[in-house]
Amino acid sequence: MAILGIETTAHTASIGVVDEHARVLALASDVYRPTAGGIHPREAANHHAEAFPALLEKLLAEGKFQPSEIEGIAFSQGPGLGPCLRTGATVARVLALAWNRPLIPVNHCIAHIEIARVLSGMDDPILLYASGGNTQIVSFSHGRYRVLGETLDIGVGNFLDKLAITLGGTFPGGPLIEKWGEQGKELVDLPYSVHGMDISFSGLLTAATAAYRAGATRENLSYSVELTAFSMLCEVLERGVAHLSKKEVVLGGGVAANRMLRSMVEKMAAPRGVRVFAPPPQLCVDNGAMIAWTGALALRNGLDIRIEESPVLPRQRTDHVDVPWRSPVAPTRSPATA
Ligand code: ATP
Ligand code: FE2
Repeated sequence: MAILGIETTAHTASIGVVDEHARVLALASDVYRPTAGGIHPREAANHHAEAFPALLEKLLAEGKFQPSEIEGIAFSQGPGLGPCLRTGATVARVLALAWNRPLIPVNHCIAHIEIARVLSGMDDPILLYASGGNTQIVSFSHGRYRVLGETLDIGVGNFLDKLAITLGGTFPGGPLIEKWGEQGKELVDLPYSVHGMDISFSGLLTAATAAYRAGATRENLSYSVELTAFSMLCEVLERGVAHLSKKEVVLGGGVAANRMLRSMVEKMAAPRGVRVFAPPPQLCVDNGAMIAWTGALALRNGLDIRIEESPVLPRQRTDHVDVPWRSPVAPTRSPATA
């Protein structure tokens, strides 16, 4: 069995094909890079529309799968930018019609979680989902992935992207901040913003921008920003681990590719005897393979939809979606005492 997945929530147009063991048979992506400023949804959607024919031709020419092997077509239904989502959904509908296969809607955030979970072999981990638009601490309970804490403003990846542009870089900024930060030696004083299980980055962005204008080097600033932002993430993640007595942590989303973040999470987890896993970088960032794998789980549970009723849902949240492929968590009280 193989499932084909289409990803277009934001910058990335991607097609992935996975088999029933989540082995990636084929993967090709093309990333829209704005020439100035942030992402323009219409321009990104146009980029994706132009990219898909070439991506599909490339994959078919590589011969790593045959259309006849594909059992279903999965697509990112949300959350994301409306025009970008609609472009991907159109490609998916066309393939489903042309190849006469079921169409499977997938929540993008849950796809980041599921690819990390299957690659880790972990059963019930807590997840730090740190991407461009999202930053959440997530755990499964009673049929859904529940958000235990999240950013109150921008995602950590968007925060790094915005700061990198101020420091003279281009999109994607996260890898640049990581590179500059490796040369940093001195800690710049920056605000630390944790509110219960939630976090916020806009004050940190304002303070980091002001520190740069006041003369901090981009190397020291990148180092300090990473240390501050990732400490905030580690604090809320550790609280989640402690309260739920978790023994497994997975990292997902593009920022999970960051080496400093990975090592800080490992340092938090080791004394607790907690195992940590992060997917390889190409499966941390947006990719069609994670959509295909989550589509495979959904299709086994009969979650395919009719083409006539296949809307995109730009505001769909992680905790809006039922996850019937995971067995329910045991009740907290045993039947005898309930
Ligand atoms: P979402 O998943 O919320 O829809 P997205 O589609 O922008 O957001 P991903 O592709 O999962 O997210 O991640 C992209 C983000 O990851 C960008 O903000 C990018 O700067 C960041 N990123 C990628 N590599 C690194 C790295 N090595 N260090 C820090 N950040 C990184
Ligand atoms: Fe993403």
